[in-house]
Amino acid sequence: MGMMTAMTGTEAWTVWACLMDIRTRLAAAGIESGEQEACWLMEHALGLSNLTQVLDRDRVLSTREAETVQALVARRVSREPLQYLLGTQEFCGIEFVVTPAVLIPRPETELLVEQVVRRISAEQAATVVDVCTGSGCIAVALAQRRPRLRMTATDISDAALTIGKNNACRQAVADRITWLEGDLMKPLAGRNLESSVDVIVSNPPYISEQDWAGLQPEVKEFEPRQALVAGPRGTERHEGLLSEATRYLVPGGALMMEMGAGQGPAVRQLIDAVGGYESVQVLCDAAGVERVVIVEFVGKSR
Ligand SMILES: C[S@@+](CC[C@H](N)C(=O)[O-])C[C@H]1O[C@@H](n2cnc3c(N)ncnc32)[C@H](O)[C@@H]1O
Repeated sequence: MGMMTAMTGTEAWTVWACLMDIRTRLAAAGIESGEQEACWLMEHALGLSNLTQVLDRDRVLSTREAETVQALVARRVSREPLQYLLGTQEFCGIEFVVTPAVLIPRPETELLVEQVVRRISAEQAATVVDVCTGSGCIAVALAQRRPRLRMTATDISDAALTIGKNNACRQAVADRITWLEGDLMKPLAGRNLESSVDVIVSNPPYISEQDWAGLQPEVKEFEPRQALVAGPRGTERHEGLLSEATRYLVPGGALMMEMGAGQGPAVRQLIDAVGGYESVQVLCDAAGVERVVIVEFVGKSR
């Protein structure tokens, strides 16, 4: 109601009335964290901090302000992810630009960054490849934490690579990451990387086609399907990574992959089937779900 009166200009619509209206609309749309999101949307649309929203609560919004915030709220009510509206997501303490061209980085993926950092010291000039880089969150976080890394990032999506490069520029690590477009590790061919990569890290698509149908609307309708769905099984990209990595890993080098809930047994089977790996380690995320698998390359057994 507040929104309608503001739009027709027949009644003053204050900062506070606007905030309450947003909260009501978000709650009606089934958005659980609506109270917090209402503040963030107000801040993003109108440039009003949390404190100003309280101190200036009786200020009357202009028609233009009301329209700006209404447009944003309408997108959120249609279940577009908040991060695409705000344009950023924090990952490993860094603010990453996100658009609908890239998956929104998830907290559980920070496990991969932690594991690479554990394995490679600050002094080591190691070679690391981030396959399926998306927003570049893994590659950029690693380049920032390990200044001597030689980092390559690949993705099949040209639009995603543009966002990745932008994020690298924002963190002043652009000159330390090579960005390559193509399927998994195919773009590494001809770059003298055979048997010389210390760590290959990847958060590949790992949702099965069947599971994709049951995802929440924020994910299914707005995040890129190509970033989520791997195929009928969900583990198709893991299989590809395991077989292609044998060409690029140095003996003793590691392949670290994120996987979906319940995929542990299938991924273990793939590791055995592809061969050439040992020291299989599976790590759980904060929710206790098997999330990351790490294998070390020993060489192809024939
Ligand atoms: C799950 S997202 C991960 C993005 C980012 N690394 C992260 O952790 O947020 C997977 C990414 O893989 C890319 N991708 C999908 N299939 C691919 C393939 N066959 N080869 C390379 N990249 C692929 C998608 O474009 C998407 O950016």
